[in-house]
Amino acid sequence: MKALITAGGHGTRLRPITHTKNKHLIPIANKPMLSYALEYVRDAGISEVGIVVNVGDTEIEKVFGKGADFDLNISYIPQKAPLGLAHVVKIAESFIGDEKFIFYLGDNILVGGIKKFIDEFEKDGSNCHLVLSRVPDPQRFGVPEIVNGRIVSVEEKPQYPKSQFAVTGIYIYDNSIFEAVNNIQPSTRGELEISDAHQYLLEKGYQISFSEITGWWKDTGKVIDLLEANRLILENLKATVSGDVDDQSTVTGNVIIGKGSTITNSVLRGPIIVGKNVKICDAYIGPNTSIADGCRIIASEVEYSILMDNSKIEDLHVRMESSLLGHGVEIIQSSTRPKTHRFMIGDQSRIRLS
Ligand code: TTP
Repeated sequence: MKALITAGGHGTRLRPITHTKNKHLIPIANKPMLSYALEYVRDAGISEVGIVVNVGDTEIEKVFGKGADFDLNISYIPQKAPLGLAHVVKIAESFIGDEKFIFYLGDNILVGGIKKFIDEFEKDGSNCHLVLSRVPDPQRFGVPEIVNGRIVSVEEKPQYPKSQFAVTGIYIYDNSIFEAVNNIQPSTRGELEISDAHQYLLEKGYQISFSEITGWWKDTGKVIDLLEANRLILENLKATVSGDVDDQSTVTGNVIIGKGSTITNSVLRGPIIVGKNVKICDAYIGPNTSIADGCRIIASEVEYSILMDNSKIEDLHVRMESSLLGHGVEIIQSSTRPKTHRFMIGDQSRIRLS
């Protein structure tokens, strides 16, 4: 079995971060998001991986190379434009060849890996295996209709969903999916929809089996989803302290502190990950926060946030929370007069002051 993983797309909902960074490299618990997909695939015993990237994007390859760090053999497949998930499958046909494969959307994070879904697909002997999750808002997803324990139809973003399930970003296929993606037409959005490919399979009499994710699953399209994915991953990490924590500081809960970091006169309430060479002084860091290498947090309070490397927070008079900061961001409150806010902010940034 091979794996096909997406790392292209528009990333519009995560602008401005995605103006300068591929969304799949945004850190979750201080590791690029895509590394979780690669770990799940490796842990399922797969070694041949194709990653689909936007044409001209070399960022992902620079980070993951040929996959040696993950014991994988990675190939990169350029997509000329984000023309839909079925288009991704279509352009991967020669990479996949005659093998069965798992198609994994690189912005999905879940607990417990993917091996059990592959096992169920093999056991069911179907042509396509969909992994479903019960969601409060199925209108946002591909939605299956299930009758007598079988999927009988799949609709993309239906106004009136026929079940409470979303088709998540984990699909397992045999070769029949190529017949489907080569025979469907683009939707009104101009994309080749993967739900239309699934509907095609059903109409042609191919078998679609399914599993339900009962644990945690998230597709990280928006900031709030990233923060939730970060929370989930942090909850499952083991505490290790390699940096220096002084006697005036209190560290409770699950906290990881990297080498060369110093914690002075501060309170840290886990789960938290602090990278290398971070300085935290006279500060409070609350639960579910990831702070990457080289950050400085001085006389400020930060909670439920992701800070990429070399950012600086100083003298904030209000607690910062539910925030995603890019690389080298500075937020500094000065006590001098006149009392003004001064900004230098890129396109499509979002600031909420209260
Ligand atoms: P989406 O989250 O549906 O889209 P997006 O990443 O472009 O983000 P936004 O909606 O905010 O603009 O994509 C799901 C996954 O599939 C994600 O990993 C990106 C990837 N993708 C491709 O690689 N090629 C494509 O043609 C599409 C539509 C998505």
